[in-house]
Amino acid sequence: MARWDPFGQGLQRPLALSSSVLLQPQRNYRAALCMELTKPLVVHDIPSTSLQPHEGSGMEFAGDVMETGIGVTNVKEGDRVIGVTSTKALAEEYIADSKLLWAIPQKIPYEDAAALPVSYGTAILALEHRAQTQPGETVLVTAAAGATGLAVVDVATHVLKAKVIAAAGSDRKCHLALQRGAFQSVNYSKTSVREEVKKLTANKGVNVVIDTIGGDIFKEALHSLAWEGRIVVVGFAGGTIPSIPANLLLLKNISALGLYWGRYRDQDFPVFSSALSSAVLHCQEGRIKPHVGAVFKLEEVNEAFAHVTQRKSTGKVVISIT
Ligand SMILES: NC(=O)c1ccc[n+]([C@@H]2O[C@H](COP(=O)([O-])OP(=O)(O)OC[C@H]3O[C@@H](n4cnc5c(N)ncnc54)[C@H](OP(=O)(O)O)[C@@H]3O)[C@@H](O)[C@H]2O)c1
Repeated sequence: MARWDPFGQGLQRPLALSSSVLLQPQRNYRAALCMELTKPLVVHDIPSTSLQPHEGSGMEFAGDVMETGIGVTNVKEGDRVIGVTSTKALAEEYIADSKLLWAIPQKIPYEDAAALPVSYGTAILALEHRAQTQPGETVLVTAAAGATGLAVVDVATHVLKAKVIAAAGSDRKCHLALQRGAFQSVNYSKTSVREEVKKLTANKGVNVVIDTIGGDIFKEALHSLAWEGRIVVVGFAGGTIPSIPANLLLLKNISALGLYWGRYRDQDFPVFSSALSSAVLHCQEGRIKPHVGAVFKLEEVNEAFAHVTQRKSTGKVVISIT
């Protein structure tokens, strides 16, 4: 049964194979369902489905394995796990592909564990796999107090030993990013990212940019890169997809890179899986600590979405199933 459920994430494919314990056919579980696009989600009771021979019952982001199918070796009944999916995560139960489950140690609370897969998987792949961030380099991260942003601050500072300039849209968010490890911050609702980065780096610029906003903030960040800098396009939270003037890449020998975390699951699973395993290990060993800014009940799922879309959230927002 799933204990915790982060936004929009969960377990997608059937978990593998079990034998002994089958779900009680009469049992129901609660799930937040999209009945109609653009309308609020509706929490419904749904009958549990029995496992097929190739399936097990799991949960999405963080929770306990209820049963597994024959042939599942990486997790067993009772294990605490995290997992990933595209949809169907907002529910008490989910049947998951065991390949997409990672066991979590006892010392990591469910809430923290639920905050790891997407944000930390993205941060690790963006910083390490794509930008090849080196110790001592300077990293500029936009929307730095968001879920991805704070994960980038955490990994860059505490794992890669880089120096982070956190760019965010309010003093409160800048302050949080500084508390979580950034060494400088820029409030882009008050000042220009480009001008501020110039001052903070003595005109040298930053080595790496991780951008989740797009639009004008992306352009300012692009101009803030140093010689042989790397900019990683991660998202367009601001709603505008920017264009890149190719001359800027040429003049400073800059690399513009993209990162689509979920595609690694299908295109290069070892890379995808290794990022998640690293996130769990770093968390277990105390190098990183996810920031869960708010926890909502399943019945409050629409309030939780509003909290995010109204830009009130910091770090990860978690839906608690218990
Ligand atoms: N490529 C990938 O694999 C990947 C993985 C994860 C996420 N993403 C994308 O990255 C983006 C951030 O994801 P997240 O999970 O970090 O989201 P989040 O926690 O909701 O943070 C998004 C932040 O973006 C900033 N923002 C700027 N303009 C905004 C606007 N017009 N509306 C809403 N927010 C705005 C806000 O911070 P300020 O108030 O400080 O500006 C907001 O807190 C999303 O677009 C998401 O789809 C991509």
